[in-house]
Amino acid sequence: MDHFALRHGVLHAEDVALPAIADAVGTPCYVYAQATLERHARVFAEGLAALPRTHIAYAVKANPNLAVLKVLAGQGYGADVVSGGEMARALAAGIAPAGIVFSGVGKTAAEMRAALAAGIGQFNLESEEEGAELAAIATGMGLRAPAALRVNPDVDAGTHGKIATGKAENKFGVPYPHAAAIYARLAMLPGLAMRGLAVHIGSQLASLAPLEAAFAKMGALMRALRAGGHGITHMDLGGGVGVPYKAGDIYPSPAAYGAMVARATRGWGAVLMFEPGRVIAGNAGVLLTRVIRVKPGVSAPFVVVDAAMNDLARPAMYEAWHDFAAVRPNGQRMTAHIVGPICESADTFATAREIDAVAAGDLAVFRTAGAYGATMASTYNSRGLVPEVMVHGGQWAVVAERITPATILAAEPLPGWLA
Ligand code: LLP
Repeated sequence: MDHFALRHGVLHAEDVALPAIADAVGTPCYVYAQATLERHARVFAEGLAALPRTHIAYAVKANPNLAVLKVLAGQGYGADVVSGGEMARALAAGIAPAGIVFSGVGKTAAEMRAALAAGIGQFNLESEEEGAELAAIATGMGLRAPAALRVNPDVDAGTHGKIATGKAENKFGVPYPHAAAIYARLAMLPGLAMRGLAVHIGSQLASLAPLEAAFAKMGALMRALRAGGHGITHMDLGGGVGVPYKAGDIYPSPAAYGAMVARATRGWGAVLMFEPGRVIAGNAGVLLTRVIRVKPGVSAPFVVVDAAMNDLARPAMYEAWHDFAAVRPNGQRMTAHIVGPICESADTFATAREIDAVAAGDLAVFRTAGAYGATMASTYNSRGLVPEVMVHGGQWAVVAERITPATILAAEPLPGWLA
């Protein structure tokens, strides 16, 4: 459920009519509904309420906007970060260091030092080599780094290949068959306080079955490690729960996810950690755009909008579907290709899709753009970076300013010999 709905024929975000935002801020622009973020955070937490001890670390990568993080901090969420930049955002939003988990295959020495200095709660180690480096840095700082070992369970998440992370050939985690031995060696390093295991098999999962299979393997590994004398107190189960991008699609509910986790982890006796991203932010945002013009095509007309693949990369990168809706639908429908202004055919949001009829100058939205939207934007074709707006009831505010092409140009000094 989200808070983007028609009122008197005009699409609103909570109590704010989208044309008011478009007039003031311009298009394209991302619009987030705080009420949806809060609702999703609450419902996800409620889905896990039956579990004895849990920690939810929002996957910052999904939407790292400071205002978004602030809202989630207010819901008691920690943060899953994958760079020094994300860690700085989580801290700036007031998330307690102890609630921060640092994931990612390429943590640099500088990032490790910064995270140790900040006192974050857990490093998710992706290799033995990384563990050895972290141990040495921590020892040098007179610290012990709290850490979990990310394991690659070799489970097919059944999602798009570019966002699957749990197959043996993927770069993530250590191979399941070697995990126990690697864990034992890391546990001997004085700079590490090994406390558990982590797994994340992919994103936008439509089914809970692969997660359950992965958790079963992690449970077996946990028991084997405990039998070997290791005190496993934390089990990080990652993120990945999918969301409906198409009206009418059905995805696992947080309650169903929670029930599966309860079943899969019965008797584990560990703090269960979660890293949801998309399920929290996805349906809390839309990309507001204006139709530049409608151009005839061979099979169907091209609706050329002012948003493009640089603003919302998902269709070009993952063949992703985002519902398209007119802000002032007139009741008519049309079949069209929806494209942006960028000079490549990948800049296509939809092909031969039946949509609300729109004409030049009309406002429209791409839905479910709150996760992996603005954060994946680029300046390709020398386009600016889109602004982001947060709505709260009848109020709204710009929470990320538009970065104009002029600002970007100003940061490109010419070398002396060309000036
Ligand atoms: N934890 C780890 C270690 C991750 O790598 C990810 C996502 C998450 C948690 C959050 O997963 P979620 O709950 O959002 O599914 N740009 C792609 C998605 C990439 C996901 C990367 N990792 C997209 O637009 O679909």
